Amino acid sequence: MEVTPGVPGWLLLGYKENLRVLRDQTHFSADPRPWGDDAAPVRGAALARDGDDHQRLRLPIVEALASVGTPHLVPVVERVAVRLIGRVGAKGAADLVGQYAAPLPALVLNELLGLPDSYGHLLADLTDRLRGDDARRAATAAPAVRAYFLGLVARKRAAPGRDVTSALLEHPHGLTDDEAVEALRLLWATGLEPTTHLIGNALRLLVEDRRVWTAYLGGTLTPEDLLDYVMWTDPPVRVLAGRYARTDLRFSGTRIRRGDPLLFAFGAAHSDPSVAGDSGTAMDQLAGNRAHLSWGAGAHRCPATSLTQELVRTALDTALDRMRDMVAVVGPAGPRRRASPGAHGLEELPVRFTPTGESEPVAAAEPDVRGASRRRKRRPAARGARYQAPFAEKPHEPDPLERLLETWTPGAEPREPIPPWAQPASGSTTTSSGWTLPGSSRRGCSPPRRWWSK
Ligand code: HEM
Repeated sequence: MEVTPGVPGWLLLGYKENLRVLRDQTHFSADPRPWGDDAAPVRGAALARDGDDHQRLRLPIVEALASVGTPHLVPVVERVAVRLIGRVGAKGAADLVGQYAAPLPALVLNELLGLPDSYGHLLADLTDRLRGDDARRAATAAPAVRAYFLGLVARKRAAPGRDVTSALLEHPHGLTDDEAVEALRLLWATGLEPTTHLIGNALRLLVEDRRVWTAYLGGTLTPEDLLDYVMWTDPPVRVLAGRYARTDLRFSGTRIRRGDPLLFAFGAAHSDPSVAGDSGTAMDQLAGNRAHLSWGAGAHRCPATSLTQELVRTALDTALDRMRDMVAVVGPAGPRRRASPGAHGLEELPVRFTPTGESEPVAAAEPDVRGASRRRKRRPAARGARYQAPFAEKPHEPDPLERLLETWTPGAEPREPIPPWAQPASGSTTTSSGWTLPGSSRRGCSPPRRWWSK
């Protein structure tokens, strides 16, 4: 196939072929640099490295994510979920994707990274802009995302806390600031959209199939088994780019040239007759079957599987618990799907339910960072300041995160241009799906999109 015009590549359709390339680091590399794909979005991050370099960058991520235990994660997800449901509860109608599954992972990730909710809304808004098809909105959001992660690292270096960012920065592997920014950006780029689609696809199955609904609520279908079933039959990532042949080789009866890109096709692999057999999509065969490839396999296997499962389970249970008697409100064609060969999920999932009488809790306990910075600005200057005395209190200088928040209104264009230090490298456009559309490649064309293909 042509991955992009002029760049031949290979789409792996069989289960065995996908698994072999995922596991085989000897013949297949995840590093785009030797093949001219040096503007890949996750450059410097673990996902785009091999061997020892990969392990050095991956371990801090694995350990930082592992530091988030269930007792910490579940209340965070519940709080975010309840707040989102509170916005729609009184109406008794909601778009479960746009108003729930899409913002929830960004708000949760923001809190795990150690920032107050005001930044979570910012991150959710930026992610939404980058997910959409509006190039102009995306272009303004990309540097703001970079500013978010630069500011986050600067803030946590100065004042560490008990959060994923601080755990990453304190790791004995001693990541530089740039490496830490790339690692955090990788969590965002790889984590949010698939999690949104896993929640959305699971909710769709529940509201559309009464047998699944009854089995789930009755406890005969466990959350883990439900998610495995969705991963097999409706995987949130259907096509994924990210491997290159290290040498000329024969693979599965075909000649592959050194540097050729290979793309995983998880959707096709899961319906390969060698694994799906006659059972097709039978629930009793697939629910609880952990052999699907949706988390990857081998050295780059997703390090956030437990965290994501717990997050999604809590999001599903909170939705089902609060939005009682939920029914889908869709036409015969079903809910609108996202037009994307890679990310596989819904654009929207409109439902009706019994109004809860709840409204969004007032964010009283939420630290209001904007308010805090305004308060600091209004504070009277120290007496000596008037005379420039040596002991004069320095005027408060907002850190990059505060500046970003102050200049960003969700849904609107930024009020100030993003500062040059936060601008992305020239010639690249990051999307929330974590890929860049670079300017050059071997053979003079754009290389394949690196991560979940849009
Ligand atoms: C349903 C949700 C998710 C799915 C389906 C998923 C799937 C995957 C897959 C298939 C890979 C391997 C890619 C490859 O081999 O090229 C991967 C890697 C990765 N995932 Fe996930 N993921 C999900 C959620 C998350 C979340 C929530 C996070 C972080 C908060 C995360 C962080 C990562 C990271 C850092 C890697 C790179 C690991 C490495 O290169 O060593 N993922 N994920």
